[in-house]
Amino acid sequence: MKQRLIVATNNRHKAEEIKEMMMDLDFEVLSLADIGIDVDVEENGTTYAENALIKAMALRDLTDGWILADDSGLEIDALNRQPGIYSARYLGEDTPYMIKNSMILDKLMEAEDRSARFVCSIALVFEDGSYWITVNKCEGSISESIAGINGFGYDPIFIPEGYSQTFGVLPSEIKNKISHRAKALQAVVQYCKLLAEESYV
Ligand code: IMP
Repeated sequence: MKQRLIVATNNRHKAEEIKEMMMDLDFEVLSLADIGIDVDVEENGTTYAENALIKAMALRDLTDGWILADDSGLEIDALNRQPGIYSARYLGEDTPYMIKNSMILDKLMEAEDRSARFVCSIALVFEDGSYWITVNKCEGSISESIAGINGFGYDPIFIPEGYSQTFGVLPSEIKNKISHRAKALQAVVQYCKLLAEESYV
């Protein structure tokens, strides 16, 4: 029987991205929508890893199979690594990102250091409650102006290292190779492959 893996996200885009990356594995990858669960877990951890684990553990009580959950955010060095784990809530949960991004650019007007990074942690929780966690980063800098419509959130003000354009301008194929989430997913896929090869699945 195929190993069942539940992706603990309400974000359809994220779930599809993860399903695609896990395609090589002989797993039954299902999103929350696929199994008809709609929960909103309070992320009250103090780190990305803790929040990812809180989300995954909350789901473990509701369904069978392995659970995969992620947590991510943007760290801006000139702002003491804010917004960090509060990225979704920063400057108001309902404030449009166009406004949030322009407020961030205003805050950085005088900043000499524009370095920043996206961080993503993914937790994989097994049926017996044991777990495996990865934390991955995508280093870069905050642009001088808002640019592009690709991606979401802070993408129009984030320029990844080695590029001169924001994630908002760069094609999704590039982001999907070098982003914090892509790297974390690659680590998960590699770990799951190892488990499958060693017949732990
Ligand atoms: P979550 O991990 O889905 O809770 O995301 C937290 C927040 O971090 C998002 O709402 C965005 O504000 C920000 N964020 C995380 N990943 C990205 C990304 O790839 N691009 C832009 N913003 C991101």
